[in-house]
Amino acid sequence: MKILALESSCDETAAAVVEDGRKVLSSVVASQVEEHMLYGGVVPEIASRRHAEAIVGVTEKALTDAKLTLDDIDAIAVTYAPGLIGALLVGVNFAKGLALSKNIPLVPTHHLRSHIAANYIAHPDLKPPFLCLVVSGGHSHIVQVDDYTKMKIIGKTRDDAAGEAFDKAARSMGMPYPGGIHLDKTAENGNPDAFKLPRPTVANSPYDFSFSGLKTAVINLIHNASQKGDVLPVEDLSASFRKAVVDCLVTNFMKAAKDINSKTLVIAGGVSANSLLRKELEKQCSDMDCKLYMPPKSLCGDNGAMVGAQGYYEYLTGNIAGDDLNAYATMSIEL
Ligand code: KG4
Ligand code: ZN
Repeated sequence: MKILALESSCDETAAAVVEDGRKVLSSVVASQVEEHMLYGGVVPEIASRRHAEAIVGVTEKALTDAKLTLDDIDAIAVTYAPGLIGALLVGVNFAKGLALSKNIPLVPTHHLRSHIAANYIAHPDLKPPFLCLVVSGGHSHIVQVDDYTKMKIIGKTRDDAAGEAFDKAARSMGMPYPGGIHLDKTAENGNPDAFKLPRPTVANSPYDFSFSGLKTAVINLIHNASQKGDVLPVEDLSASFRKAVVDCLVTNFMKAAKDINSKTLVIAGGVSANSLLRKELEKQCSDMDCKLYMPPKSLCGDNGAMVGAQGYYEYLTGNIAGDDLNAYATMSIEL
């Protein structure tokens, strides 16, 4: 089964053709990052307009790269939630038009479920059940994936998402948007013990996260230093911040794995590209005799291939939209 998959939830316009959920025949991503960088973050109206401009070309290229035409496509999958509403609506309406014109099924696909599904592309042996740490720009969840379309959140952030915290801390250090990747690179040359930063926990909820205090601690350090005319070493500050965030993520995730006795662990979302997170989890999983699956860095960020992967399993469970499909800015991964 060949699915044409579309993604437009944030600042990437993406299309891909995926066969039977696991084989990527093409994947095209048009990023708007350069433009949003000028403003230090995503400007929702600009994002919507750029999606409207790019979506036809990106889709045509995905079909051409796969050496197919629309007549060869069996279903259209599209990200319909969560994300920027104006951005999502571009993809949803375009997908609806394609599905109607060819009289093929339209499969509504949840963005975070797709991030998890990026792992199915990279790891043919991976199947639910497993425990997944989903860490993106907007979400930080520990999710029990019981089946491809059946999941339960057992931990989540109470305030900022991990990616958001990385981006805000990076911004306060003068790095361009999106700062997570720059902070990660800068941290490689720093001392993670140079600055004492908190490891915030949430009372009575051992799997929940709280990153806003950590972000504020870094911002305060920078402000206090600048009031004295000092400039803090950005490599050490990045390394200390990265270590603190990764400690929180790894501690809660591994505790959850131990408590529910899950031996198959998966990470997903933009922050799963973080070098220290990957390294620490590899170490702990080998110590605890757990099997760890991580997406290749090329599939950590937003892309269409992951939508095609999840869309296949949504289709198999009968998740087909009517022609009244809408987009939603927020929606639980549990649905
Ligand atoms: O999943 P994603 O591409 O988009 C959302 O669905 O939100 O995640 C984007 C987030 C951004 O906050 C970005 O800074 C962060 O992932 N990110 C990273 C790294 N690469 C991307 N954060 C830390 N280290 C990285 N290497
Ligand atoms: Zn994403």
